[in-house]
Amino acid sequence: MTSDALLVCQISDLHIKPPGRLSYRQVDCAAMLGRCVQEILRLRQRPDLVIATGDLVDFGRPEEYAHLRQLLAPLPMPVYLIPGNHDERDALREAFPDHPYLRQWPPFVQYVIEDWPLRIVALDTLIPGQGSGELCDQRLAWLERALAAQPAKPTLVIMHHPPFPTLIGHMDKQGLRGSEGLAKVIARHAQVERVLCGHIHRPIQVRFGGTLASTCPSPAHQVALDLTPDAASAFTMEPPGFQLHGWRKEFGVVSHTAFIGDFAGPFPFRENGKLID
Ligand SMILES: [Fe+2]
Ligand SMILES: [Fe+2]
Repeated sequence: MTSDALLVCQISDLHIKPPGRLSYRQVDCAAMLGRCVQEILRLRQRPDLVIATGDLVDFGRPEEYAHLRQLLAPLPMPVYLIPGNHDERDALREAFPDHPYLRQWPPFVQYVIEDWPLRIVALDTLIPGQGSGELCDQRLAWLERALAAQPAKPTLVIMHHPPFPTLIGHMDKQGLRGSEGLAKVIARHAQVERVLCGHIHRPIQVRFGGTLASTCPSPAHQVALDLTPDAASAFTMEPPGFQLHGWRKEFGVVSHTAFIGDFAGPFPFRENGKLID
């Protein structure tokens, strides 16, 4: 990291269960997160920090968070956690006593990280026991104050539920209450470079509040691509992934999606300076 550049890795929807248990009796989310961590460690450019945008575990249980801790332990850089609808705030805080930012504004897990040239403002969209999310007036007022405190510092807002429709019917039914209010707050603060979300288990980008909002693939299962109101609630084992958000002071954030798997290459385009025919 310099004061002019930063590389942020986003992982999302890890859905970790206790050791030996498969999600939906199908997916070994722990093994797939392990592979994701290895891929992050093998990147040619090591990220300065990792953000994990919710659904960290599958049922919010202490033994799941203990397993998550083990799986994230090989990452040498700071990892910032936020809850999703599968998480439980107190169990999350108790499992990560060495992550003091989780206690900035109880009972919510909303926080600001000031340690980097990009400011990180994390929102808590959780409604305990429900799949849908919410940003109530209290949480939005906190965001307004947080953004007003540093209007000139480029900022990433991170949250679990995306504040936009995805066209995937069963996901849109468990949407986010308060997204109109969020759009108004974001639109008042031009320093917001991105609104980075999870929950949808696939990469999506939408214009939102005068900036770009997006979701991230999961390192495990993906939500099936079916853009209909009555889309079945289903997942697929498409290539898993994570995202890299590179920031440069001159032009802002550039976002990439990285897929996890055994792929052939890289192969050269050119030989002796000429395109290979
Ligand atoms: Fe999820
Ligand atoms: Fe979710």
